[in-house]
Amino acid sequence: MGSRIALFSVAAAAAVLLSACTAPTTGPAPLKSPSPEGSTAVTFNPPSIDSVPNDENGKAIKLGYDLMNDTKKLLPNNVGNQLSCSSCHAQAGTVEKELSLVGVASVYPQYRDREAAISTLEDRVNQCLQRSMNGKPIPYDSTEMRAFSMYMSYISKGIPEGTNPPWRGQNVKIDVSNPNLQEGQKLYQQSCAACHGANGEGTPAGPAVWGPNSFNDGAGMANLSKMAAFVKVNMPKAPMGGENPGALTDAQARDVSAWILSHDRPHFPGKSKDFPKGRPQN
Ligand code: HEC
Ligand code: HEC
Repeated sequence: MGSRIALFSVAAAAAVLLSACTAPTTGPAPLKSPSPEGSTAVTFNPPSIDSVPNDENGKAIKLGYDLMNDTKKLLPNNVGNQLSCSSCHAQAGTVEKELSLVGVASVYPQYRDREAAISTLEDRVNQCLQRSMNGKPIPYDSTEMRAFSMYMSYISKGIPEGTNPPWRGQNVKIDVSNPNLQEGQKLYQQSCAACHGANGEGTPAGPAVWGPNSFNDGAGMANLSKMAAFVKVNMPKAPMGGENPGALTDAQARDVSAWILSHDRPHFPGKSKDFPKGRPQN
């Protein structure tokens, strides 16, 4: 437990330090620059939520876990759609290739292109709340923010500070030029609509992928190459319409993602301020 408290206080101290040292005159500098290839020395082996201790720290970790899964119910004023964190970070971030959050506590604070600033883990939670959840940030000193941090530190146990775990990101690059929307529409109706709804509205078997209950246009998932990589590796979630999980071709993942992103979704008001140095090639 000592190490969890330590991890949390390091993050909290860093957050305080950072807010004090991001003066525009000096400009942001990377605190850590993990290699994009990741470290090969670490293994994916997050501790089970069932082994959380029965004490105050354990309570915070379990609240963090519940917040990941029941986000809307527990943060009704901060979540603006029908998604949970686990809609994308599957099973509270513990599925290796599905936007896993295992090890993130060891990666932050970090410089980010989108904001052209240093982000802490807590900033990232609030960015996903504002963009992926089309909602509002939670206070940095709230019980809920502490719980998110404690939970992510818990599942990052054993991953050395400064390590960029190899499973982070999708590690899949898909050429997303010239998508075929007609092909995308066909594939969507055949292999995705049963779970995500004929109009992208979501069903009990899968979250909304477009429309008012989906992520907004400032979310990471609204980026075609990011969604295509996620879809290629993880969708369909179960065999559907002749397609199997993780077996779509690059072109299928590109077309169906482009079809999803061709529909209306909520607008992120701060979007025009993203990538002040230009969007990186991805
Ligand atoms: C619509 C999908 C979606 C939802 C919902 C979502 N996220 Fe994310 N999240 C992403 C994507 C995509 C990224 C990677 C963003 C990028 O590369 O710019 C990300 C990144 C993150 C990161 C940084 C991970 C890293 O490896 O650097 C954290 C932490 C995080 N999300 C936490 C949360 C939390 C907590 C919630 C719920 C409050 C949440 N996310 C909801 C899609 C989502
Ligand atoms: C058997 C049900 C099922 C099928 C079929 C399915 N999905 Fe999903 N999808 C899910 C579930 C459940 C999640 C939430 C994450 C998780 O638990 O894996 C999800 C998450 C997603 C997400 C991220 C969350 C969001 O709301 O945006 C996208 C994008 C997505 N699926 C696209 C697709 C595409 C494209 C297809 C068809 C090729 C597809 N899915 C087929 C069940 C399904």
